[in-house]
Amino acid sequence: MALPETIFKLLKPRRKASGSELTREAMANIPRHVAVIMDGNGRWARKRGLPRYSGHYAGAENLREFCKWCIEFGISYTTVFAFSTENWQRPQQEVDSLMKLFLEFFARYEEELAAEGVRLRFCGETGELPQSVQDTMQRAEASSLQRNKLQLIIAFNYGGRREIVKATRDLLASCKAGELKPEELTEEHLSARLYLPDVPDPDLIIRPSVELRLSNFLLWHSAYIELWFAKVLWPDFNRHHFTAAINDYASRQRRYGGLSKEERG
Ligand code: FPP
Repeated sequence: MALPETIFKLLKPRRKASGSELTREAMANIPRHVAVIMDGNGRWARKRGLPRYSGHYAGAENLREFCKWCIEFGISYTTVFAFSTENWQRPQQEVDSLMKLFLEFFARYEEELAAEGVRLRFCGETGELPQSVQDTMQRAEASSLQRNKLQLIIAFNYGGRREIVKATRDLLASCKAGELKPEELTEEHLSARLYLPDVPDPDLIIRPSVELRLSNFLLWHSAYIELWFAKVLWPDFNRHHFTAAINDYASRQRRYGGLSKEERG
């Protein structure tokens, strides 16, 4: 594997870009929870004649930057899609490099995340991951419990349908045990059985890389989510793009199937 340092050098000039600022409207209407599909790492690497895993390393570096912007803007939660339940279909070498990157990320940046006040949480079928990854997750969660600037939720071996099936199984078990009657089931009962029931639904999903789809991410939570698509690859997604996304989010009217304030009179 090429040294990640090669990738850090490639990223350095890009990090200086800052770009436009938040509007007043945006400052008054910051989303509480922003989710990101960190897509386009492979294409980023290919454009530079690098192996695919280099794109993932560059993507992980951008995640560090992204957390800083979230803290700067006052966003409380971010959920990022780092490995899907479908990603096992990729070549073994790429899967292995993603697991290795996960371990290296925490070995390298644990102190930085602590200094920034980032609490770590994970969602997905974590019990199916290599033991070393599970141990790292448990350590990161336990050691960051008291941090309160930002909750970084890493979806790892995550699939939206798998999450709903898991919640449904739990519901059926509760019904079988006589704790719940099927005719009394509500959305709240299912929500309470998702991976992280205490985390509020994301307000905004950002997907860079040109693709216009959700790819099995946060299916239950995205019922009324706002979507933002950026025509750049995730490692190139910078503070300027993020500012534009937040400004645009703030200018939208979320009606949840009802009427706007003006229409209600
Ligand atoms: C999709 O891009 C991205 C992934 C499958 C992996 C994303 C993972 C990271 C950014 C690393 C996160 C690291 C930590 C420590 C959480 P793609 O490979 O499908 O890109 P392509 O569509 O251009 O091929």
